[in-house]
Amino acid sequence: MRTEDPQIIRLVDYRPPDFLIDRMSLDIKLDLKKTRAISRLSLRPNPAGRADVPLVLDGDELVLLGVKLDGEPLQECYSVTADGFTLAAPPRRNFELEIETELDPSANTKLMGLYRSGSAYCTQCEAEGFRRITYFLDRPDVLSIYTTRIEADRAEAPILLSNGNLVERGDVPQSNRHYAVWHDPFPKPCYLFALVGGDLGSLRDTFTTMSGRKVDLAIYVEHGNERRAAYAMDALKRAMRWDETAYKREYDLDVFNIVAVSDFNMGAMENKGLNIFNDRYVLALPETATDADYAGIERVIAHEYLHNWTGNRITCRDWFQLCLKEGLTVFRDQEFTSDQRSRALQRIADVRTLRAQQFSEDAGPLAHSVRPDTYREINNFYTATVYEKGAELVRMLKVLIGDDAFSRGIQLYFERCDGTAATVEDFLACFEASSGRDLQHFALWYEQAGTPSVTIAASYDQDAKTLSLELSQETPPTPGQPDKKPLVIPLAIGLIGESGTELPLKAEIDAFDGASAAELKRGLIELTSARRHIVFRDLGERVVISALRGFSAPVQLVQSASDEDLSLQCAFDPDPCVRWQAAQTYATRLLVAAARAPASGRNHSGIASFTEALRKAVSAGGDPAFTAQLLTLPSETDIAREIGDNVDPDAIYDGRQRLRADVGRALSTELLRLYRDLASDAPYSPDAASAGRRALRNTALDLLTSADEAAGTPLARAQFDTASNMTDRIAALTVLCLTESAAREDALEEFYKRYAGDALIIDKWLSLQATMPHPGTLDRVRGLMRTEQFSMANPNRVRALIGGFAANQRQFNAPDGSGYDFIGECVLLLDPKNPHVAVRLLSAFRTWRMMEPRRCRLAEAMLRRIQGVASLSPDVRDIVDRSLA
Ligand code: BES
Ligand code: ZN
Repeated sequence: MRTEDPQIIRLVDYRPPDFLIDRMSLDIKLDLKKTRAISRLSLRPNPAGRADVPLVLDGDELVLLGVKLDGEPLQECYSVTADGFTLAAPPRRNFELEIETELDPSANTKLMGLYRSGSAYCTQCEAEGFRRITYFLDRPDVLSIYTTRIEADRAEAPILLSNGNLVERGDVPQSNRHYAVWHDPFPKPCYLFALVGGDLGSLRDTFTTMSGRKVDLAIYVEHGNERRAAYAMDALKRAMRWDETAYKREYDLDVFNIVAVSDFNMGAMENKGLNIFNDRYVLALPETATDADYAGIERVIAHEYLHNWTGNRITCRDWFQLCLKEGLTVFRDQEFTSDQRSRALQRIADVRTLRAQQFSEDAGPLAHSVRPDTYREINNFYTATVYEKGAELVRMLKVLIGDDAFSRGIQLYFERCDGTAATVEDFLACFEASSGRDLQHFALWYEQAGTPSVTIAASYDQDAKTLSLELSQETPPTPGQPDKKPLVIPLAIGLIGESGTELPLKAEIDAFDGASAAELKRGLIELTSARRHIVFRDLGERVVISALRGFSAPVQLVQSASDEDLSLQCAFDPDPCVRWQAAQTYATRLLVAAARAPASGRNHSGIASFTEALRKAVSAGGDPAFTAQLLTLPSETDIAREIGDNVDPDAIYDGRQRLRADVGRALSTELLRLYRDLASDAPYSPDAASAGRRALRNTALDLLTSADEAAGTPLARAQFDTASNMTDRIAALTVLCLTESAAREDALEEFYKRYAGDALIIDKWLSLQATMPHPGTLDRVRGLMRTEQFSMANPNRVRALIGGFAANQRQFNAPDGSGYDFIGECVLLLDPKNPHVAVRLLSAFRTWRMMEPRRCRLAEAMLRRIQGVASLSPDVRDIVDRSLA
């Protein structure tokens, strides 16, 4: 990175704002092409800021119409550009600045600031979109009380919404216009501002908080979709109740509104009292949405609601502290889902996501710490590291200090920091206070990037009846951080005897770093230095170590467990994470070997004992959702990351397909029985238990078909025809799409005819075709881009089709470079219109250096071509530069 680059923002340069804006009054007259915004800012010099400096407000693509200072029109003493407003010598007392701007919502293709989605007006301000509505101090540590008056054509926008409570509404005399005034009593940063105007239907409900206040709830959707919002409403009420019982936090306004829009860059946004959602995270009916969609809705609704305390009431001082709200809120939404569904399954799902997204990010050129110390474009830091690893750090903190101290610490945080813009240090200080523990070493997790690997070498001494453990940690270098320090790593462990029973932990710990008996009582070893040696005694039988229980730290575990140990763990370990991990490790060994040396023949005995371990686990019964997880092999990207370099995606794919077929063949009796036994006539319910049974049944169908296409295809075809819900129908179609049968094209065609016109369902159809591993896929995708179902302007369509293709490991990485060229061209096409969407596609290149030399060269050539374009957005420029650095 060029250190003299002036666009680089640094954490060490943080200064408090020179001015504060206590109140903000906004008056917005909505118009398709000429919306007017008059803002009145009640300003005062910040005692903690610098005196006698100009007032510099942020702006972006704004047209200034007029300025008044304390009611007097200003002609000079200020300067203005499209991206800033400067008042050279502002008063040294409280003053009011009135600024009138004009903007064109229908020309806003970036979907940041005020824009149109369908026939509605809506906003997205995080991170720096508010400056596209009016000139302002667009930074999260400037907190203001907002009053917003919205005016619009009555017929065009009968619904007018903003943050807070509705205080007034009425008609504008002698016109066809009306207005509404909203007041939000809670001071907030401008990124939480929102406004909606449009002709929308709504689903309404109420919620009574634990202190007995009644809150009006509404979910606004396109007319006709009201019924489809029922599950989202149910999830909202459950999330509200959960925050009361789990965290003693209740909702604080009289209304909570959610608006679902079809054009949205992200999943959803937590604007105070007015969450705005991508409609895919609101709308669901059994015939339209899958179990995964239902789970996604429940999770995202909860996540945005939970931000009310972690993000809104307590916000971030600056964008470097993003993990303070996002990591913590992801942790909270994971806990919510664990309590609503199955804790074990949730943990496994979260670990899968962490590995797939965050570990890959950490292993590539875009690696950064949970709290970065520099950025060029903040939009590019809403990453798996900030979110998922950020959540892991909170979880690890809880493991280290214990549930009790954690819960007292978080309550202290809510009390102490309420109404402020806080930092990671403020957060940690609360847990230091509640636990009495120095968290300085732990804080290194926020600064140091990279995935630590923890090695456990074990040796059992039969005569001495001891097991000696040699633990060590190492974090590989990441961009800008060549030397890593040891971290505090909590390792939850247990010992399993040969008979499958859990043995007590009795240990002598060597003199270097005396471990406390208290640690072992909790089944926890804290690794705080590069190495640690521990001897367990009184072990009359050979033992298997059950390590990293519950995935107690976001590390890569290196263990020399034998295949037999893995089989044993897979069958007996009391910890579901370890059981699942054992199966994954076993499969990974076989898959890596198959991909590295496809020609050297297959490890038949290894495969046989692996499938035997799975067969035992399946026969043992247990939670179907868990069994489905056991039977799901590591993804192609997981295998690629494990291989690390010289990656050939075709070899990975082939090896994985063959192992899937092996599993399907070896377990065919069990799978067929499961497929028949798990069939159900009961009306669809999205609950976790029913979803788990569907997941296992559909996994069985998938494996059976991999093993025997001729036998599986008719089953899949019949399921496709008779399915009573989208989960089963799309699962059958997915299985058909992996075959080369005529049934595939027929089913795709029928699906299309049935659902054309329902954009969210058509997205499934688009992404299914984009992820087909076959060579014709790119042509198919190009063809689909030309159909009326597709639009480059809609982020959901782009993500489904082009994003689907970018995730297609075989075809994106096609050996002739056609996949790289296609995605690169799409990035260049999208960038001028919507950089956010362009960046998401570009991130498919993040693993390019791992590829074998030929693909590596082709990917690099495309990246260089993008880099050479002069007019790139700062967003794409930042990612492409870092990817090539
Ligand atoms: N605050 C974010 C939305 C956001 C992200 C705004 C990036 C601006 C830039 C919101 O709380 C969020 O995190 N949404 C996630 C879903 C969530 C369940 C992790 C999203 O939109 O993907
Ligand atoms: Zn969030």
